Amino acid sequence: MRSFAGRDILSLKDFERNEFFRVFEIAEELEPIARNRRNVDLLKEKTLVTAFYQPSTRTRLAHEAAMIRLGGQVTGFADAKMTRAGDFYQESIKDTVKMLEFYGDVIVMRHFQQGAPHEAAKWASIPIINGGDGWGEHPTQILTDLYTVLNEKGTLDGLRWVAVGDMRMRTMHSLGYALTQFDCPITFVAPPGMEMPDNYKDDFDAMGLDFGFADHVGDVIGEADVILVEPTIQPDYTKSRDERKGEVPTTPENYKITLDLLKNKAKSDAILLHSLPRMDEIPPNVDISRWSRYWQEAFNGVVMRMALLALITGAME
Ligand code: CP
Repeated sequence: MRSFAGRDILSLKDFERNEFFRVFEIAEELEPIARNRRNVDLLKEKTLVTAFYQPSTRTRLAHEAAMIRLGGQVTGFADAKMTRAGDFYQESIKDTVKMLEFYGDVIVMRHFQQGAPHEAAKWASIPIINGGDGWGEHPTQILTDLYTVLNEKGTLDGLRWVAVGDMRMRTMHSLGYALTQFDCPITFVAPPGMEMPDNYKDDFDAMGLDFGFADHVGDVIGEADVILVEPTIQPDYTKSRDERKGEVPTTPENYKITLDLLKNKAKSDAILLHSLPRMDEIPPNVDISRWSRYWQEAFNGVVMRMALLALITGAME
């Protein structure tokens, strides 16, 4: 297996099956630290730099919390608009990371331009973690989701997935790549105009993913062991910030997971994931149901970032 020490985490396209399991083993080992709300000194000599050019609640703070749980330090942009990348100069990714690499030992970057973390990785002498790039990928979220499924179901192989939402969404691309490494057929359910882009379909085909499409979640939810949902009503991820203007539409029934749908059509032991934030695609009365696992997913988000930070800094092998 390739070492994780010094490695960039940019995409799940290049993740091998045994590497997923190694990350999950390290996560399991570190999990009690987060569960017991302890801070240890594993990364006490390390600093995480957060370079977020787009809003985030979970990805940024989960990385920060993970670093703090492991005893490290954190620094980062208060607001990308208040950096030289966000003002008159529009400083390039190259010039920015040639500075940031001296301020810490790992950079986690979220950017509205697809490929920006990859560009950063070309120039930085320290590892770059992709915290979401435009409509590109969101590898740490999907590592979190697979770890959640493994914990909840005791296996990854042999599970059937249904993914519902906007297939231009970066999580969906990382999910497709990840599932190529497991025996996990998947059905994608998306509105017209939000279908899986052809380049990802071509990659999934070439990598042996068993995938198909459906128009209505009600037609396929009964087959699912894992239901992963993203919004269909959402901002433009190619913008640094997309304000809500006026009334927003509601999610059509085809892409909505209601308690009635779960009760009437889902397997009783299926699990429901949503990386959040949500709109109305999962109503709050689903939160306390036997299917929902999104709060567990949120906790695992910290554990997964702990594992990745421990591995890429070389503190654990
Ligand atoms: N799931 C996720 O990426 O959330 P944030 O946008 O809040 O980071």
